[in-house]
Amino acid sequence: MSDPSAPFLDDLPPLDGPAPIGARDAPPGRRNARAILAALRELVTDAANLESGPATLLEIGSGPGLHAAAFADPLAPARWLPTDHATDNHASILAWTDAIPVGRARPLPPRVLDASAPDTWPLDETESVRVIFSANVIHIAPWSVALGLFDGAGRVLPKGGLLLLYGPFRRHGAFTGDGDAAFQEWLLSLDSRYGVRDLDGEVIPAAAAHGLVFDHTRSMPANNLMVVFRKA
Ligand SMILES: C[S@@+](CC[C@H](N)C(=O)[O-])C[C@H]1O[C@@H](n2cnc3c(N)ncnc32)[C@H](O)[C@@H]1O
Repeated sequence: MSDPSAPFLDDLPPLDGPAPIGARDAPPGRRNARAILAALRELVTDAANLESGPATLLEIGSGPGLHAAAFADPLAPARWLPTDHATDNHASILAWTDAIPVGRARPLPPRVLDASAPDTWPLDETESVRVIFSANVIHIAPWSVALGLFDGAGRVLPKGGLLLLYGPFRRHGAFTGDGDAAFQEWLLSLDSRYGVRDLDGEVIPAAAAHGLVFDHTRSMPANNLMVVFRKA
């Protein structure tokens, strides 16, 4: 299923069933998947410019792998490449992938990619990465991970390529939702280097330093944003 003008999917296997054996479940990932896919379908089709050959959509910080398993087929022929620096996530990514019904497009096998070390990203230029998607990563990782992500994205993406960040953000230094301050405290209790990043004061300037121009935000469920950067 790859026609971007088709009506929105009413089924989203394998997320419509129970988590397969060996796969980690993530209820927020299930709840928000359709809204994320709706945004990605518009954005990816534009950026992937599929007329010039299938593009690779690089996911950074895939975690359990729900997004990879749910989105690879609807976004085909773009190829979804899941990655995570933590290899213990890879078994779950593969277990979700194995549950994709026969005949539907699958993600590529997961690779080890440490966002904070862009010199080591396991990509080659023939792979034509035109979109990078990273969900729920930069607030629950040290700031050096965001900086590495921007550095790597600035090197890998071609002109017009997209970096898409999904998750919670502060705006002009302020929290935007009722539970945000408590969420921030919880993040800091996990690791003092974590925290909900300020889109305007931190994220946009850091991305711009690597040629990633802020384009727009989209409001997403649970007070999250999809933040769109375009490579200049
Ligand atoms: C909260 S999970 C999000 C998982 C998934 N993207 C989602 O939205 O359900 C954060 C993920 O970021 C990954 N991560 C943290 N630091 C990273 C790094 N330096 N490079 C790549 N991934 C990283 C973690 O291993 C974890 O899988």
